[in-house]
Amino acid sequence: RRKIIIDTDPGQDDAAALMLAFASGEELEILGITTVAGNVPLRLTSRNARIVCELCGRTDIPVYEGADRPIERKLVTAEHVHGKTGLDGAELEEPTMAVQSQHAVDFIVETLRREPAGSVTLCTLGPLTNVALALKKAPDIAPRIRELVMMGGGFFEGGNITPAAEFNIYVDPQAVEVVFGAGIPVVMMPLDVTHQLLTTKARVARIASIGSRPSQVMVEWLQFFERFDEEKYGSDGGPLHDPTVIAYLLKPELFSGRHCNVEIETQSELTMGMTVVDWWRVSGREPNVQVMRGVDADGFFDLLIERFARLR
Ligand code: BDR
Ligand code: CA
Repeated sequence: RRKIIIDTDPGQDDAAALMLAFASGEELEILGITTVAGNVPLRLTSRNARIVCELCGRTDIPVYEGADRPIERKLVTAEHVHGKTGLDGAELEEPTMAVQSQHAVDFIVETLRREPAGSVTLCTLGPLTNVALALKKAPDIAPRIRELVMMGGGFFEGGNITPAAEFNIYVDPQAVEVVFGAGIPVVMMPLDVTHQLLTTKARVARIASIGSRPSQVMVEWLQFFERFDEEKYGSDGGPLHDPTVIAYLLKPELFSGRHCNVEIETQSELTMGMTVVDWWRVSGREPNVQVMRGVDADGFFDLLIERFARLR
């Protein structure tokens, strides 16, 4: 089983990623969930992570609270996409499970130092603030990370928070610079992949037909979440971003991409947070990221739905 830490800012699509991981215990061992400020402020992302754990009966997974703001920039949130709570769409009880007292950054550092080198994979579904702070605090952990799989960025597809930038990168570009410069094997799932993964009516109906409480709540979340993109892009359903990270660990053959150089814009206000992907390898800069671009969309949704059906 692959040991993972999931760093997240739930978010309906983060919730879908968590549920996919919860349903995949044969392949994945979740050492902990760490929360970060992103879609909504930290207090709410921590609340939402616990709501998802409780919904799926996974209160055994420890939740650690991390950074409440980006390294340098002021926090930008996305209530316009995810709603006031970050998880709008379903009526759920406030969570009762506790947050761990240890800080997420310390948990990441301690876990990587304790577990065998090369055994822990970091899965990031939000801004990279926690991972960057851990690397700054304890540079010795970098070579111990097996792989970092992240949702973020966009290149041919452009941005979703500004014309140039994808949300997770835009919120904390300085953090991404730290992570991409640390020599860690990074796999990036950009908008170029996630914009191909639309929650069409037919796919949502398949999730609804599972009939369990977690799948019912997921349908309500997806219906709320996709209204934003449907209005915006006129597509049948919205793109499902964050579960790509977990799907990659389960079935990497669903995705295709290239190992190339990626640098982050941190100076220009116009293009702040842009992922400058050297897809055609014209810069001569060293490849530092496995950038995904292709995805088998039907295969992805088959996996997602088959796994959701395991949750009761
Ligand atoms: C990313 O931003 C957030 O709104 C989503 O949860 C996802 O992680 C997509 O740009
Ligand atoms: Ca997210």
